[in-house]
Amino acid sequence: MRYKDATTSRDISESKAFKDYIKMNPKSQDHSLNASKYIPSGLSRGLLRHPPFPFYTASGEGAWTIDLDGNRRLDFHGNYTAQIHGHGHPELVSAGTVQMAEGTSYPAPPIHESSLAEHLCNRVPSVQKVVFNCSGSEAVMVAVRVARAHTGRNRIGLFEGCYHGSTDGVLVGHEDLPAPDSAERVTTPKPAMAGLPDSATKDAILMRYNDPEAVLEAVRKYGHELAAILVEPIQGAAGMIPAEPEFIETIRKETERFGIVMICDEVISLRQAVGGTQAFMGVTPDITTMAKIIGGGFPIGAVGGKNEFMSRLNAPQDGGIVANLGTYSANPVSMRAGLVGMQLLDEAAIARINQQGQLVRDGLTQVILKHDAPAQVTGTGSLFMIHWTSEPIRDARTVERANPDLGMLTFIGLANRGVQISMRGLACLSTPMVESDIQAIVSSFDDTLSELKQENWF
Ligand SMILES: Cc1ncc(COP(=O)(O)O)c(C=O)c1O
Repeated sequence: MRYKDATTSRDISESKAFKDYIKMNPKSQDHSLNASKYIPSGLSRGLLRHPPFPFYTASGEGAWTIDLDGNRRLDFHGNYTAQIHGHGHPELVSAGTVQMAEGTSYPAPPIHESSLAEHLCNRVPSVQKVVFNCSGSEAVMVAVRVARAHTGRNRIGLFEGCYHGSTDGVLVGHEDLPAPDSAERVTTPKPAMAGLPDSATKDAILMRYNDPEAVLEAVRKYGHELAAILVEPIQGAAGMIPAEPEFIETIRKETERFGIVMICDEVISLRQAVGGTQAFMGVTPDITTMAKIIGGGFPIGAVGGKNEFMSRLNAPQDGGIVANLGTYSANPVSMRAGLVGMQLLDEAAIARINQQGQLVRDGLTQVILKHDAPAQVTGTGSLFMIHWTSEPIRDARTVERANPDLGMLTFIGLANRGVQISMRGLACLSTPMVESDIQAIVSSFDDTLSELKQENWF
């Protein structure tokens, strides 16, 4: 979605990487042509589209995926960080299949809902109560409604580069960002794609990320109109950029001062520590949105927070004024597998993948230095991202400077060598990974960069 048009003067389809890719994936190419007859451009999820055509996954196994042509790839993509236990984890398979046999959705609440809720409340310090739905997008939508209902205000503060899912009001922040050296800190965003009414984003205020001054300026101008400030403690899709301490502290302080609800979107960042990145950073938001890893590989979203805010979701007779809806919300399969998945993700498991994450970041950085490539690796814990720019990255403005062609060539080059990351360079670790997998991504990156350098792509 955020890819600009080619920024190199050469056509990337002329690269050895693209030619090899086409040779290695004939069945996926045929599948793509056939699927395109029935699905726009051959697949439903926009963020999985890439040139020349995607490889279609036939199955997954631990840290690996296997595509239609039989190519095995180490999965450092993890379905945009959701598959923290990889594929086919025996305990998750067991939880899911046992529950499927007992029923996949009921006309009354399932018993495992409160078990997962209790686990999350015990785990994330700021979460006293929680409700479930089916995606991070829904969780954000409900959290924003709670904030609006609680404050009686409409405006929402967001950060440049943010991704909070696919609901209309938060699809902002990616286009036409001011230059990194611009003094402009707070802007009114435009909708991020066609089909959104201007009204969807008319209440959005866009601030520069990792810039405490931007927060101060926004609350100075709009403090009494803002219902919420919605922030990712690690900006995920924007570039795996951790919030700096002063920035996140400023948000907490200013939201308290102006009665604004602070919503931490931990859909990606929850994996950083047992209590999420908020616990790691020592910040206590009012509301937290969660998804991805909390579902044990099944669709899920959750809104959690302090009683004061969560009571807005009570039944009307208990004073509730917002409803969390959805036919499959809190479905028993996601609840049961989610609980097992979160129990498996204990302190030791997190420490292990975080340490592996550091090894990967260090290894990739060594390769970049070896090839004198204009690139860098961001991230923290078990999250990382490769960027083709040498300008130090602190926010989306600097990420926007990266060369998308080199990003795409790296993605394809790695895919040819049995490693999958996202097409934008975003990647993560999963618990089934072992030391040889870390070595594999580093050496595949080394080979990919050698090939790109040989063809003078950088
Ligand atoms: C920070 C953040 N919030 C919300 C979402 C939306 O989650 P979902 O894709 O489950 O709707 C995402 C998805 O990547 C995300 O990264």
